[in-house]
Amino acid sequence: MRNIRELPELLISQIAAGEVVERPASVLKELLENSLDAGATQIQVALDQGGAKRVQVDDDGAGIVHQDLGLAFARHATSKIGSLEELEGVATMGFRGEALASIAAVARVELVSRARDAAHAWSLAAEGGAARAPRPAARAPGTTVAVQDLYFNTPARRKFLRTEATEFGHCDDVFRRVALARSDLAFSLKHNGRVSAHLAPQPAAARAAALLGAEFAAASVPVEARAGPLRLHGLAGTPQAARNRADAQYFYVNGRFVRDRLLAHAVREAYRDTLHGERQPAFVLFLELDPRGVDVNVHPAKTEVRFREARGIHQFVFHALKRALAPSAAESPVSYATVASQGPAIQAALAMQEPVMAYRPAPAPLPVSEKAPPLGYALAQLHGVYVLAQNEAGLVLVDMHAAHERILMEKMKAGLDAGAIERQSLLVPAVFRAEALQVAIAEDNREALEKLGLELSVAGPNELAVRAAPALLAGGDVAALARSLLAELREFGAAQVLAARQNELLATMACHAAVRANRTLSIPEMNALLREMEQTERSGSCNHGRPTWYQLTLADLDRLFLRGR
Ligand SMILES: Nc1ncnc2c1ncn2[C@@H]1O[C@H](COP(=O)(O)OP(=O)(O)OP(=O)(O)O)[C@@H](O)[C@H]1O
Ligand SMILES: [Mg+2]
Repeated sequence: MRNIRELPELLISQIAAGEVVERPASVLKELLENSLDAGATQIQVALDQGGAKRVQVDDDGAGIVHQDLGLAFARHATSKIGSLEELEGVATMGFRGEALASIAAVARVELVSRARDAAHAWSLAAEGGAARAPRPAARAPGTTVAVQDLYFNTPARRKFLRTEATEFGHCDDVFRRVALARSDLAFSLKHNGRVSAHLAPQPAAARAAALLGAEFAAASVPVEARAGPLRLHGLAGTPQAARNRADAQYFYVNGRFVRDRLLAHAVREAYRDTLHGERQPAFVLFLELDPRGVDVNVHPAKTEVRFREARGIHQFVFHALKRALAPSAAESPVSYATVASQGPAIQAALAMQEPVMAYRPAPAPLPVSEKAPPLGYALAQLHGVYVLAQNEAGLVLVDMHAAHERILMEKMKAGLDAGAIERQSLLVPAVFRAEALQVAIAEDNREALEKLGLELSVAGPNELAVRAAPALLAGGDVAALARSLLAELREFGAAQVLAARQNELLATMACHAAVRANRTLSIPEMNALLREMEQTERSGSCNHGRPTWYQLTLADLDRLFLRGR
């Protein structure tokens, strides 16, 4: 072992740089954040060779006054905070006074800056941590920082850089994150001299469409919710905008892009009923709160945060998002213009071998209001699968099984939320054979089963009897339902089944009972189905995330027949 020695200044900086400057994209992130903090309205980015050769950011922000220039590259020198209180309420992107120092330790940096009322600009170069004396330069007010030859003095790190295309991809991600959050600013991005993005200031939704594509814009709903000092706003993709990869998920806290487990969980929960399987939602969401309620000084790249009121934040985000995602059909007759080849999946769902049950309409009378209902009135049934209806806009096509399933599920969910699903006693108990373990599970989980609308009793050492079943499902094969609930309880336990697996469970139950294909419905039954859809939350898609209805407007039909109007 050698003696303990102090590390040279440059080596300290190079080690620290490892945390902040992982790759060209991290340089870009730091430079962009500095431009935002300087109040820039126009930001231009130029990259060469994926950023490894050059990352340059040019802004029209406040600039740096001459006497501060000497400190720009100094470690732990910042203009943004001066005390612990200020750190706790930090509203700027930067606050550590570390980024430029770290970057200068591993690259050649040139900074040209002119403060708003300065007579001219100053230029300052730093290489391997050492800054030279500033020299007068020509420039309009604002700042340009050019970072060249990243890792020129740390070859071991240079080897970790990927291909030019990959590094550019990471830079593009960073650019996109910043540009999405600040649609009020103008941005441009050039790579190897070619313009790859050019964005004028625009409304947030237009910016999202420009960066995430028109399909996202068309298949997303606005989110806007407030509770005291909390605000959540942005765009939430509907199930139709869902993807196979989590590559369109943007969450910002006070303008800062974050990856936070608490927030990710709240979002996932809010989407749980509407997305099936492994589908990933797309969203751009902004959470605003008092900066004192969130600690951003958790991670070197500042992509993790810690909330003071974690539970409250989770609840707020979950409910706000869920509400935005669950408008009833009556409020927003969505036109599912993108229903593509969903046929086979629906057929598969309908082919399940469950007993045929009648769709029993609630005894609600037809509406007496003069205003036509959004989903219109039923005309006929097609091939025992679709209901055709006429509304003001034109023709409505409803997948009756999917729609009914969604209605049943939402009703049972409401019941469960209120304490228990409504039960109906059976005149004749349904007795079925059960293993000893099933009997034990039935006895041990009496309460959970009752919540789910089932009352079971032991009819013999190897027999169980269903005495009451969910009112909405009674008349179906209640023994089969009981068996599948017992299997679920056995595998996951009551707590899980009632909490984390509640939606899957309700979906299964609803699927058991929903009206099957090839069941003839009368016109009043079809109208009742339409009215219930209008009153049901999330009726736009079934429990598996497929659409339940589709609007063909008169214009769509005219187009089909090449008919001008
Ligand atoms: N584009 C810019 N316009 C105006 N001032 C700038 C710009 N870039 C850097 N500065 C000044 O240089 C200082 C150092 O920047 P640096 O990024 O190193 O630290 P910081 O932003 O304060 O904190 P952090 O390390 O958290 O980013 C800033 O505090 C700011 O005063
Ligand atoms: Mg900074």
